[in-house]
Amino acid sequence: MQIRPATLVAFLAACGAVVALHAQAPAQAPAQAKERPIPQVIRKDGHYGFMVDGAPYLMLGAQAHNSSGWPGMLPKVWPAIEFLHANTLEIPVYWEQFEPHPQQFDYSVMDTIVTQAREHHIRLVLLWFGTWKNGSQHYMPEWMKADPAKYSHVIDKNGHPADSPSPFATASQELDIRAFTAFMRHLKAFDPQRTVIMVQVENESGTWGSVRDYSPAAQKLFDGPVPADVLKAMGHQGGSPANWQEAFGAEAEVNFHAWAVATYVGKVAAAGKAVYPLPLYANAALRDPIKPGAPGSYEAGGPTDNVIPIWKVAAPAIDIVSPDIYMSDPAAYLKVLELYRRDDNALFVPETAGSPAVSRFFFSALGFQAIGFSPFGLDYSVTNPAAVQAAVAAGATAPMDQFSPTAQNYKLIGPMMREIARLNFEGKLQTAVEEKGEATQTLHFGPWNATVTYGAGRRGAAAGNPEPTGRALVAQTGDNKFLVTGYLCRVDFRPTEADKRRQFMRVDEGTYDNGVFKFIRILNGDETDNGLNLRSEPLALRVSLGVY
Ligand code: DGJ
Repeated sequence: MQIRPATLVAFLAACGAVVALHAQAPAQAPAQAKERPIPQVIRKDGHYGFMVDGAPYLMLGAQAHNSSGWPGMLPKVWPAIEFLHANTLEIPVYWEQFEPHPQQFDYSVMDTIVTQAREHHIRLVLLWFGTWKNGSQHYMPEWMKADPAKYSHVIDKNGHPADSPSPFATASQELDIRAFTAFMRHLKAFDPQRTVIMVQVENESGTWGSVRDYSPAAQKLFDGPVPADVLKAMGHQGGSPANWQEAFGAEAEVNFHAWAVATYVGKVAAAGKAVYPLPLYANAALRDPIKPGAPGSYEAGGPTDNVIPIWKVAAPAIDIVSPDIYMSDPAAYLKVLELYRRDDNALFVPETAGSPAVSRFFFSALGFQAIGFSPFGLDYSVTNPAAVQAAVAAGATAPMDQFSPTAQNYKLIGPMMREIARLNFEGKLQTAVEEKGEATQTLHFGPWNATVTYGAGRRGAAAGNPEPTGRALVAQTGDNKFLVTGYLCRVDFRPTEADKRRQFMRVDEGTYDNGVFKFIRILNGDETDNGLNLRSEPLALRVSLGVY
């Protein structure tokens, strides 16, 4: 039997034997691998596009659990990704694993992940669990954690070290820069295929339990002037304040910490980007988007909505700041999408819940032109696949099943992903998502209004679905031509011109297969007289409209 090098590496890595073999090994890509364009986030005519292999791409993602980024765990990851119909896996790479001894980099685990992703035809977003993970330094290598005097923590108001790395710890910063640069340099050499399409720098960087660092070095900076670009970005009016307190009052400390953390992360990102310019992003633990509490009630320092402008000027190598959305209230969820879709920021949801109550917001995110969406913790390291499969066989999207709602979404959109991504990049796509008590919604397309109703009887008024699970996607593909898809809703069109009525010229029902629309039938009669019904099957409609 001929053993391919990738298989051998994966096998050795699974045995934990690869460090000696592979540490410091020169990065090598398979000789025959064709180099593809480096993925890019671009903006054109006010719309963001995530270009992968030279065309707009929609990340149908799933994030693995925190401790699943090990070769021995991958067998519990790939079957879940397949079940979900995801096209992208987000998975961590741990600094503690990557640099077990100073400056000895172990590429074996990242290589195994990338190699297996290729075998499964899945793209990757690698999450660099470096200096920060959920505000703490828990993923620093052991030999760094053992020296807190050198790799210092935030000092809280009472003079105690917090469970959070100091953004002023230059010794830590230098090492993170060195390690992240090695990681990106290796990735560039190992991955001309661009299996890895984006990298997250740190994870929910910032601090819980202290609004800022109160160490003497930090205090000195806090008592000094605010950088001019930060004042400008925050729209500060009125002269040159002497210090942060004078400039920002009650928000001074949280702004100061955001500037400090963003500056640190920005330098790590810039160093990595200089060797390999992949799109980079930073994720945020959010504050309440509707009623934000006072500083101290949320993680300080990360790109929360109030300090996005500071992150933009202090960390320009970070392409996107992204919300981790663990909310199920529609008003809060939609507000977060609105806050992070900005002229200077593409919307990307790198973490969210996979629950039935939340999964419909995948459609909301598309309506806000998201370039990607990725529910968290969807692998079989915790959840027993048999339980998931049993729930599915029973036809249930029971609350315990965090997988099926996402699988249903991705099964529908996956085969038409490139068309959806292009239509969104061109600004031609809108979505509607059911909310309790709101059984009718209207989307506006110039001369046409698309009305979306939920739980509509044959002729009767729409009553809503028993649970608010309906979702629709409508995209304009030409003059009087639309692509319509979704689940558990009815879509109809009305001309905005007075005294005109719509008629369906033709409605084609079909499915997508690898980007190609496969015609099944023309819908007419009962199937169109009251509008276009989308049930639980993954179908798409191509609609031609006229008036009389
Ligand atoms: C947000 C973090 O970014 C994830 O790594 C994970 O810890 C989830 N919270 C919760 O499990």
